[in-house]
Amino acid sequence: MYIASTTAPVNIATLKYWGKRDKTLNLPTNSSISVTLSQEDLRTLTSAATSETFSEDQLWLNGKLESLASERTQMCLADLRQLRAELESQDDSLPKFSQWKLHIVSENNFPTAAGLASSAAGFSALVVAIAKLYKLPQSMSEISKIARKGSGSACRSLFGGYVAWEMGVEEDGSDSKAVEVAPLEHWDNMKAVILVVSADKKDTPSTSGMQTTVHTSDLFQWRIKEVVPTRFEEMKKSIVEKNFPVFADLTMKDSNSFHATCLDSFPPIFYLNDTSKKIIKLVHAINEFYKETIAAYTFDAGPNAVIYYESQNESKLFAFLYKLFGKVSGWESKYTTESLTAFTTEFET
Ligand code: ADP
Ligand code: DP6
Ligand code: CO
Repeated sequence: MYIASTTAPVNIATLKYWGKRDKTLNLPTNSSISVTLSQEDLRTLTSAATSETFSEDQLWLNGKLESLASERTQMCLADLRQLRAELESQDDSLPKFSQWKLHIVSENNFPTAAGLASSAAGFSALVVAIAKLYKLPQSMSEISKIARKGSGSACRSLFGGYVAWEMGVEEDGSDSKAVEVAPLEHWDNMKAVILVVSADKKDTPSTSGMQTTVHTSDLFQWRIKEVVPTRFEEMKKSIVEKNFPVFADLTMKDSNSFHATCLDSFPPIFYLNDTSKKIIKLVHAINEFYKETIAAYTFDAGPNAVIYYESQNESKLFAFLYKLFGKVSGWESKYTTESLTAFTTEFET
């Protein structure tokens, strides 16, 4: 038996991917941007094993045997096996992994399917573990195209720091890949705090939610044609220039724009709850209080908030968080040497 393991981090989009132009290849209707969080806090750990004796592909997710029959996972495995077969055809001495079945064991150390990007860390780890096992020579951007087929957001978790997923124009998806905008060290005082409003599994998975939006929302057409293309360039510039107020405004506006298209879907999709809305109001009130934009919220497909801020403003921000959410429990006082640190907490709604 041969085995390889890897961990993969979560990434939280600041310019959201929401909508597919090709459902099978996971080609998006717009380019997106994200920040990859530290693996100290939220991460997927995946091991992939292969052996001539295995009779079927199997995946254990968080201790439970999952179906590997899902089309998205099979797409990833097929691509990885094809790249491995190319290597084997060039070197006869290599074991024929491409023809053997795989056993995959994966564990998320944070809530799965709760709007905290488990599919991003999950598929990124799955693809990277197998690429490692197969000793594939391809670049991260090339491998990101395979992770993309598992879950769109997963392609961005292959890079640390500030990452763009370029939507591409080709029908076969050959140019729809993740690229680095800037490494983590470029803007190393950026931090993120995560407020876990609910760890429950969402009732509308991202994949089906965005399909409803694509097919029914008029606002969505405006978003992908007029709003996001300009924002994509502006946000990249704000990252290169480390301009927090601009980055923050774009991030908050884009979260709101994405959730507006969810509400404009028919039937409407609600990811934000009353606590999420309180957090939105709070962040605006904090920025107003200091007469400076020091914090930016963003919400994925779930009620949980991610607040980006620069480390020098941590006590200014946390003073408010502690005050408003007095019943905070389970804060992890885990300061890491890495600059981008996520804290998790649960509080009563
Ligand atoms: P999230 O907001 O957590 O990304 P999604 O609805 O996008 O939620 O995706 C959740 C799905 O992603 C899970 O139901 C599962 O199929 C898949 N997933 C999550 N974690 C992993 C993992 N570690 N390995 C493989 N697949 C995973
Ligand atoms: C709101 O990548 O989970 O988090 O490609 O269908 O697996 P699939 O969807 P997924 O969608 C993520 C949506 C989002 C925004 C983002 O991460 O860009
Ligand atoms: Co997801």
